[in-house]
Amino acid sequence: MSENTNIRHIISAADFSQSDLRDLFTLINSIKEAPHHFSSTLSNRVIATFFCEPSTRTRVSFESAIARLGGACISVADGATSSNAKGETLEDMIRTVGGYADAIVLRHPEDDSAERAACVASIPIICAGAGARHHPTQALLDLYTIVEARDRLSDLLIVVAGDLMHGRTARSLIELLAQYEGNRFTFVAPPQCTLHPDSKAVLDAHKMAYREVPTLEDALVDADVLYMTRLQKERFADKTAYERARGTYSLSSTNVDQLPQDAIIMHPLPRNEEIDSAIDADPRARYFTQAHNGLFVRMALLATLFETEANTMS
Ligand code: CP
Repeated sequence: MSENTNIRHIISAADFSQSDLRDLFTLINSIKEAPHHFSSTLSNRVIATFFCEPSTRTRVSFESAIARLGGACISVADGATSSNAKGETLEDMIRTVGGYADAIVLRHPEDDSAERAACVASIPIICAGAGARHHPTQALLDLYTIVEARDRLSDLLIVVAGDLMHGRTARSLIELLAQYEGNRFTFVAPPQCTLHPDSKAVLDAHKMAYREVPTLEDALVDADVLYMTRLQKERFADKTAYERARGTYSLSSTNVDQLPQDAIIMHPLPRNEEIDSAIDADPRARYFTQAHNGLFVRMALLATLFETEANTMS
Protein backbone atom coordinates (compact mmCIF):
# COMPACT_ATOMS: atom_id res chain seq x y z
CA MET A 1 0.00 0.00 0.00
CA SER A 2 1.28 3.48 -0.76
CA GLU A 3 0.81 6.53 1.40
CA ASN A 4 -0.15 10.03 0.30
CA THR A 5 -0.02 12.26 3.40
CA ASN A 6 -1.96 10.17 5.96
CA ILE A 7 -4.17 8.33 3.48
CA ARG A 8 -3.41 4.75 2.47
CA HIS A 9 -3.98 3.89 -1.18
CA ILE A 10 -3.64 0.65 -3.17
CA ILE A 11 -2.07 1.73 -6.45
CA SER A 12 0.58 -0.76 -7.52
CA ALA A 13 1.52 -4.38 -6.83
CA ALA A 14 5.10 -3.19 -6.41
CA ASP A 15 4.09 -1.39 -3.19
CA PHE A 16 3.59 -4.76 -1.41
CA SER A 17 6.61 -6.23 0.37
CA GLN A 18 6.97 -9.93 1.22
CA SER A 19 6.09 -9.07 4.81
CA ASP A 20 2.88 -7.24 3.69
CA LEU A 21 1.99 -10.29 1.60
CA ARG A 22 2.50 -12.73 4.49
CA ASP A 23 0.22 -10.60 6.70
CA LEU A 24 -2.37 -10.32 3.95
CA PHE A 25 -2.41 -14.07 3.27
CA THR A 26 -2.81 -14.82 6.99
CA LEU A 27 -5.82 -12.50 7.08
CA ILE A 28 -7.30 -14.05 3.91
CA ASN A 29 -7.06 -17.50 5.51
CA SER A 30 -8.80 -16.19 8.65
CA ILE A 31 -11.59 -14.67 6.56
CA LYS A 32 -12.01 -17.90 4.58
CA GLU A 33 -12.22 -19.93 7.77
CA ALA A 34 -14.66 -17.68 9.65
CA PRO A 35 -16.16 -14.97 7.43
CA HIS A 36 -18.84 -14.20 10.06
CA HIS A 37 -16.11 -12.79 12.34
CA PHE A 38 -15.66 -9.96 9.83
CA SER A 39 -19.31 -9.15 9.12
CA SER A 40 -19.23 -5.72 10.79
CA THR A 41 -15.73 -4.64 9.72
CA LEU A 42 -17.17 -1.97 7.41
CA SER A 43 -20.26 -1.05 9.40
CA ASN A 44 -21.17 2.64 8.83
CA ARG A 45 -18.75 2.76 5.87
CA VAL A 46 -19.74 3.60 2.31
CA ILE A 47 -17.45 2.43 -0.49
CA ALA A 48 -17.76 3.72 -4.07
CA THR A 49 -16.97 1.42 -6.97
CA PHE A 50 -16.26 3.66 -9.97
CA PHE A 51 -15.68 1.75 -13.20
CA CYS A 52 -14.93 3.57 -16.46
CA GLU A 53 -14.11 0.27 -18.26
CA PRO A 54 -16.09 -3.00 -18.40
CA SER A 55 -15.69 -5.54 -15.59
CA THR A 56 -17.41 -8.60 -14.20
CA ARG A 57 -15.07 -10.12 -11.59
CA THR A 58 -13.36 -7.11 -10.10
CA ARG A 59 -16.43 -4.93 -9.62
CA VAL A 60 -18.80 -7.68 -8.50
CA SER A 61 -16.29 -9.30 -6.13
CA PHE A 62 -15.50 -5.89 -4.57
CA GLU A 63 -19.22 -5.21 -4.15
CA SER A 64 -19.75 -8.65 -2.62
CA ALA A 65 -16.73 -8.07 -0.32
CA ILE A 66 -18.17 -4.73 0.83
CA ALA A 67 -21.57 -6.34 1.55
CA ARG A 68 -20.01 -9.28 3.42
CA LEU A 69 -17.99 -6.88 5.57
CA GLY A 70 -21.17 -5.01 6.53
CA GLY A 71 -20.52 -1.89 4.45
CA ALA A 72 -22.69 -0.08 1.92
CA CYS A 73 -21.74 0.36 -1.72
CA ILE A 74 -22.48 3.10 -4.23
CA SER A 75 -21.57 2.27 -7.79
CA VAL A 76 -20.84 3.69 -11.22
CA ALA A 77 -20.70 0.55 -13.33
CA ASP A 78 -20.19 2.27 -16.66
CA GLY A 79 -18.26 5.49 -17.33
CA ALA A 80 -20.74 6.34 -20.11
CA THR A 81 -23.48 6.88 -17.50
CA SER A 82 -21.38 9.25 -15.36
CA SER A 83 -20.33 12.84 -16.03
CA ASN A 84 -17.17 11.33 -17.51
CA ALA A 85 -19.30 11.30 -20.68
CA LYS A 86 -19.80 15.09 -20.38
CA GLY A 87 -16.06 15.69 -20.29
CA GLU A 88 -15.59 15.86 -16.52
CA THR A 89 -11.99 15.28 -15.53
CA LEU A 90 -10.94 12.28 -13.45
CA GLU A 91 -9.67 14.68 -10.78
CA ASP A 92 -13.04 16.46 -10.48
CA MET A 93 -14.91 13.14 -10.30
CA ILE A 94 -12.61 11.87 -7.54
CA ARG A 95 -12.92 15.11 -5.52
CA THR A 96 -16.71 14.91 -5.85
CA VAL A 97 -17.15 11.22 -5.00
CA GLY A 98 -14.73 11.75 -2.10
CA GLY A 99 -17.55 13.69 -0.42
CA TYR A 100 -19.97 10.74 -0.67
CA ALA A 101 -17.83 7.71 0.27
CA ASP A 102 -15.07 6.47 2.57
CA ALA A 103 -12.99 4.87 -0.22
CA ILE A 104 -13.09 4.66 -4.02
CA VAL A 105 -12.43 1.48 -6.00
CA LEU A 106 -11.41 2.85 -9.40
CA ARG A 107 -11.06 1.26 -12.83
CA HIS A 108 -9.99 3.64 -15.59
CA PRO A 109 -8.43 3.27 -19.07
CA GLU A 110 -5.43 5.54 -18.42
CA ASP A 111 -2.16 4.10 -17.12
CA ASP A 112 -1.58 6.84 -14.54
CA SER A 113 -5.22 7.17 -13.43
CA ALA A 114 -4.78 5.65 -9.98
CA GLU A 115 -1.78 7.87 -9.18
CA ARG A 116 -3.66 10.96 -10.43
CA ALA A 117 -6.72 10.02 -8.38
CA ALA A 118 -4.58 9.52 -5.26
CA CYS A 119 -3.01 12.98 -5.72
CA VAL A 120 -6.38 14.72 -5.27
CA ALA A 121 -8.26 12.21 -3.11
CA SER A 122 -9.34 12.91 0.46
CA ILE A 123 -10.10 9.18 0.95
CA PRO A 124 -8.28 5.92 0.00
CA ILE A 125 -8.10 4.99 -3.70
CA ILE A 126 -8.01 1.29 -4.57
CA CYS A 127 -6.85 0.68 -8.13
CA ALA A 128 -9.09 -1.88 -9.81
CA GLY A 129 -7.27 -1.67 -13.14
CA ALA A 130 -5.41 1.29 -14.65
CA GLY A 131 -4.90 1.15 -18.42
CA ALA A 132 -2.25 -1.35 -19.45
CA ARG A 133 -0.22 -0.59 -16.34
CA HIS A 134 -1.67 -1.65 -12.97
CA HIS A 135 -4.04 -4.28 -11.59
CA PRO A 136 -2.73 -4.80 -8.05
CA THR A 137 -5.71 -6.59 -6.55
CA GLN A 138 -5.70 -9.11 -9.42
CA ALA A 139 -1.98 -9.74 -8.86
CA LEU A 140 -2.61 -10.33 -5.15
CA LEU A 141 -5.35 -12.88 -5.81
CA ASP A 142 -3.12 -14.52 -8.42
CA LEU A 143 -0.28 -14.80 -5.93
CA TYR A 144 -2.60 -16.16 -3.24
CA THR A 145 -3.92 -18.78 -5.69
CA ILE A 146 -0.36 -19.87 -6.49
CA VAL A 147 0.72 -20.27 -2.86
CA GLU A 148 -2.54 -22.05 -2.03
CA ALA A 149 -1.98 -24.57 -4.83
CA ARG A 150 1.83 -24.94 -4.82
CA ASP A 151 2.61 -24.17 -1.15
CA ARG A 152 5.45 -21.85 -2.10
CA LEU A 153 6.21 -18.66 -4.04
CA SER A 154 9.91 -19.25 -4.74
CA ASP A 155 11.82 -21.68 -6.99
CA LEU A 156 8.95 -21.82 -9.45
CA LEU A 157 9.04 -21.90 -13.23
CA ILE A 158 6.24 -19.60 -14.33
CA VAL A 159 5.11 -19.54 -17.97
CA VAL A 160 3.24 -16.37 -18.87
CA ALA A 161 1.50 -16.41 -22.24
CA GLY A 162 -0.52 -13.89 -24.21
CA ASP A 163 -0.55 -10.14 -24.58
CA LEU A 164 2.50 -9.16 -22.55
CA MET A 165 2.64 -5.64 -23.97
CA HIS A 166 -0.86 -4.40 -23.12
CA GLY A 167 -1.90 -6.81 -20.35
CA ARG A 168 -1.92 -5.21 -16.89
CA THR A 169 -2.48 -8.46 -14.99
CA ALA A 170 0.77 -10.06 -16.20
CA ARG A 171 2.74 -6.86 -15.56
CA SER A 172 1.43 -6.61 -12.01
CA LEU A 173 1.97 -10.30 -11.24
CA ILE A 174 5.57 -10.14 -12.49
CA GLU A 175 6.18 -7.30 -9.99
CA LEU A 176 5.17 -9.62 -7.14
CA LEU A 177 6.77 -12.89 -8.29
CA ALA A 178 10.08 -11.15 -9.05
CA GLN A 179 10.49 -10.53 -5.30
CA TYR A 180 10.88 -14.28 -4.58
CA GLU A 181 14.21 -16.08 -4.91
CA GLY A 182 14.81 -18.74 -7.49
CA ASN A 183 11.82 -18.02 -9.70
CA ARG A 184 12.32 -18.39 -13.43
CA PHE A 185 10.03 -17.15 -16.18
CA THR A 186 9.24 -18.24 -19.72
CA PHE A 187 7.26 -15.76 -21.82
CA VAL A 188 5.20 -16.69 -24.88
CA ALA A 189 3.65 -13.88 -26.90
CA PRO A 190 2.74 -13.07 -30.48
CA PRO A 191 5.39 -10.79 -32.08
CA GLN A 192 2.95 -7.84 -31.91
CA CYS A 193 2.77 -7.95 -28.10
CA THR A 194 5.99 -9.27 -26.59
CA LEU A 195 7.10 -8.60 -23.01
CA HIS A 196 6.76 -4.93 -22.01
CA PRO A 197 10.11 -3.13 -21.45
CA ASP A 198 8.99 -2.18 -17.92
CA SER A 199 8.54 -5.87 -17.06
CA LYS A 200 12.05 -6.61 -18.38
CA ALA A 201 13.39 -3.80 -16.18
CA VAL A 202 11.65 -5.30 -13.12
CA LEU A 203 13.08 -8.76 -13.87
CA ASP A 204 16.56 -7.36 -14.47
CA ALA A 205 16.45 -5.31 -11.27
CA HIS A 206 15.66 -8.48 -9.31
CA LYS A 207 18.23 -10.55 -11.29
CA MET A 208 15.47 -12.97 -12.35
CA ALA A 209 16.18 -15.55 -15.07
CA TYR A 210 13.81 -15.39 -18.02
CA ARG A 211 13.52 -16.39 -21.65
CA GLU A 212 11.14 -15.56 -24.46
CA VAL A 213 10.00 -18.37 -26.77
CA PRO A 214 7.79 -18.28 -29.86
CA THR A 215 5.25 -21.02 -29.07
CA LEU A 216 3.47 -22.53 -26.10
CA GLU A 217 4.82 -25.96 -27.08
CA ASP A 218 8.36 -24.60 -26.40
CA ALA A 219 7.39 -23.69 -22.84
CA LEU A 220 5.09 -26.19 -21.16
CA VAL A 221 7.21 -29.21 -20.30
CA ASP A 222 8.77 -27.97 -17.01
CA ALA A 223 6.20 -25.39 -15.95
CA ASP A 224 4.97 -25.14 -12.36
CA VAL A 225 2.49 -22.39 -13.20
CA LEU A 226 0.99 -21.59 -16.61
CA TYR A 227 -0.55 -18.09 -16.59
CA MET A 228 -2.58 -17.52 -19.75
CA THR A 229 -3.94 -14.09 -20.74
CA ARG A 230 -6.17 -12.83 -23.53
CA LEU A 231 -5.18 -10.43 -26.28
CA GLN A 232 -6.22 -6.95 -25.12
CA LYS A 233 -8.19 -6.14 -28.27
CA GLU A 234 -9.30 -2.77 -26.88
CA ARG A 235 -5.69 -1.59 -26.51
CA PHE A 236 -4.49 -2.45 -30.04
CA ALA A 237 -4.17 0.77 -32.08
CA ASP A 238 -3.91 -1.38 -35.24
CA LYS A 239 -6.81 -3.86 -35.47
CA THR A 240 -5.08 -5.81 -38.28
CA ALA A 241 -2.21 -6.49 -35.85
CA TYR A 242 -4.81 -7.89 -33.44
CA GLU A 243 -6.24 -10.16 -36.14
CA ARG A 244 -2.74 -11.45 -37.02
CA ALA A 245 -2.02 -12.25 -33.36
CA ARG A 246 -5.27 -14.15 -32.74
CA GLY A 247 -5.03 -17.88 -32.17
CA THR A 248 -1.22 -18.01 -32.08
CA TYR A 249 -0.84 -19.39 -28.53
CA SER A 250 -3.91 -21.48 -27.64
CA LEU A 251 -4.00 -24.14 -24.95
CA SER A 252 -5.86 -27.14 -26.31
CA SER A 253 -6.63 -30.66 -25.12
CA THR A 254 -3.64 -31.76 -27.23
CA ASN A 255 -0.81 -29.49 -26.07
CA VAL A 256 -2.02 -29.46 -22.43
CA ASP A 257 -0.62 -33.02 -22.23
CA GLN A 258 2.89 -31.52 -22.21
CA LEU A 259 2.19 -29.73 -18.92
CA PRO A 260 3.37 -31.58 -15.76
CA GLN A 261 0.63 -33.22 -13.68
CA ASP A 262 1.32 -30.97 -10.68
CA ALA A 263 1.31 -27.74 -12.69
CA ILE A 264 -1.56 -25.28 -12.40
CA ILE A 265 -3.31 -23.44 -15.22
CA MET A 266 -4.33 -19.88 -14.41
CA HIS A 267 -6.08 -17.07 -16.27
CA PRO A 268 -7.28 -13.72 -14.88
CA LEU A 269 -10.38 -14.04 -17.10
CA PRO A 270 -12.26 -13.10 -19.18
CA ARG A 271 -10.89 -15.62 -21.66
CA ASN A 272 -11.39 -15.61 -25.38
CA GLU A 273 -10.02 -18.41 -27.54
CA GLU A 274 -6.71 -18.98 -25.72
CA ILE A 275 -8.00 -21.79 -23.48
CA ASP A 276 -10.25 -24.47 -24.94
CA SER A 277 -13.28 -24.93 -22.66
CA ALA A 278 -12.60 -28.71 -22.75
CA ILE A 279 -9.70 -27.95 -20.34
CA ASP A 280 -12.05 -26.58 -17.65
CA ALA A 281 -12.58 -30.10 -16.25
CA ASP A 282 -8.82 -30.72 -15.96
CA PRO A 283 -7.87 -30.69 -12.23
CA ARG A 284 -4.93 -28.43 -13.10
CA ALA A 285 -7.30 -25.66 -14.27
CA ARG A 286 -7.56 -23.11 -11.43
CA TYR A 287 -9.00 -20.04 -13.17
CA PHE A 288 -12.44 -20.20 -11.54
CA THR A 289 -10.87 -20.88 -8.11
CA GLN A 290 -8.66 -17.88 -8.84
CA ALA A 291 -11.72 -15.70 -9.57
CA HIS A 292 -13.45 -16.94 -6.38
CA ASN A 293 -10.34 -16.13 -4.34
CA GLY A 294 -10.82 -12.54 -5.50
CA LEU A 295 -13.67 -12.15 -3.02
CA PHE A 296 -11.55 -13.11 0.02
CA VAL A 297 -8.51 -11.14 -1.16
CA ARG A 298 -10.63 -8.00 -1.61
CA MET A 299 -12.32 -8.52 1.77
CA ALA A 300 -8.87 -8.72 3.36
CA LEU A 301 -7.63 -5.61 1.56
CA LEU A 302 -10.65 -3.56 2.64
CA ALA A 303 -10.36 -4.86 6.21
CA THR A 304 -6.66 -3.94 6.29
CA LEU A 305 -7.27 -0.49 4.87
CA PHE A 306 -9.91 0.40 7.45
CA GLU A 307 -8.14 -1.29 10.33
CA THR A 308 -5.09 0.86 9.50
CA GLU A 309 -7.28 3.96 9.39
CA ALA A 310 -8.91 3.10 12.74
CA ASN A 311 -5.47 2.61 14.32
CA THR A 312 -4.25 5.93 12.90
CA MET A 313 -7.26 7.77 14.33
CA SER A 314 -7.16 6.18 17.82
N1 CP B 1 -9.70 -10.20 -14.20
C1 CP B 1 -10.47 -9.09 -14.30
O1 CP B 1 -10.03 -7.95 -14.06
O2 CP B 1 -11.74 -9.35 -14.72
P1 CP B 1 -12.85 -8.25 -14.96
O3 CP B 1 -12.40 -7.38 -16.13
O4 CP B 1 -14.11 -9.01 -15.26
O5 CP B 1 -12.97 -7.40 -13.72
